[in-house]
Amino acid sequence: MHRPDGGPGGAVPHHVAIVMDGNGRWATRRFMPRLAGHRQGVESLRRCVRACVERGVRVLTVFAFSSENWNRPTEEVSGLMELLAGALVREVPRLRDDGVQLHFVGSREGLSVKVVEGLSQAERDTRHNQRLVLNVCFNYGGRWDIAQAAARLAEQGLPITEDGLHSAMGMSHVPDPDLLIRTGGEMRISNFLLWQIAYSELYFSDRLWPDFDEAALDEAINAFARRERRFGKTSEQIQSEQATEAGS
Ligand code: IPE
Ligand code: IPE
Ligand code: MG
Repeated sequence: MHRPDGGPGGAVPHHVAIVMDGNGRWATRRFMPRLAGHRQGVESLRRCVRACVERGVRVLTVFAFSSENWNRPTEEVSGLMELLAGALVREVPRLRDDGVQLHFVGSREGLSVKVVEGLSQAERDTRHNQRLVLNVCFNYGGRWDIAQAAARLAEQGLPITEDGLHSAMGMSHVPDPDLLIRTGGEMRISNFLLWQIAYSELYFSDRLWPDFDEAALDEAINAFARRERRFGKTSEQIQSEQATEAGS
C-alpha cells in the first residue's frame, strides 16, 4: 500500500497542494477584468514556488484549470489558454534554471496543438531537475483522473487495486500531499485531488490567491506543524512512536 509520505510530526510538509482560488474577485474588487486577476495569479505562483524552495518543500501541486472551468464565458477560457501559452514561453526557462521539475497533470483533450507541444517540451526540458517538483493541474479533475486510471487498467486487463489505480493516475510520480491549501475563502475541494488527499491536512485561507504571500504560506505551514497526523491510529500510539524515534 502506498501511504502519505510525510508521516506525523514533520515541521515542513514534503508535498504542498494548492487550490489557487480568488483571482476573479481580486480583479473585480479593483474594477479590472477577471483576466487581470489571472495574470496576477501567475505572479503569485512565481512567488510561491520560490518560497516553497526556500522552505524546503519538495513537491508543489497547484490547481490551475479544472475540468469544469470550461463552463466559464468563452472569453475567460480563451484568455486562460493564452495565459498558459504565454507562461510556458516566459516562465519555463527560469524554472529550468532554478532546478524545478515541471509536470502538467490533466487531460490534453481540448487543448491546442501548440499548447500540448509546449507542455511536453517543458516537461522534457526540466525532467532532470531535483530541487522542487512542480505539478500544474490543468484541464484536471479528480474524477477524471480516477476514471481514466481505471479505464487504463481495464484496457490492459489488470486488476483494479489501490496500488494499480495509484500508478495509473496522474500523480503517480510523487507521494500524496501532506498539506492541502485552498485560498479564496471557499471550503470545498471542487474536484481537485480526490484520491490523493485521503490523509492530507486541509487548510483554508480567506486570502485571495494573488494576495497569498510568503507570510500567508508560513501561516499555513505553521498550522500544519501543529497538527497531529494519526493515519487511523490513536494519539497515544503516535506519541510513543515519536518518543521512540527521538530516542533512536
Ligand atoms: C481561480 O480563480 C483560478 C481559476 C479557476 C482559473 P477564480 O477565477 O475562480 O477566482 P474567483 O473565485 O472567481 O474569485
Ligand atoms: C477551483 O476553483 C479550480 C481552480 C482553482 C483552478 P473554482 O473557482 O473553479 O471552484 P468553484 O467553482 O468555486 O467550486
Ligand atoms: Mg473561484
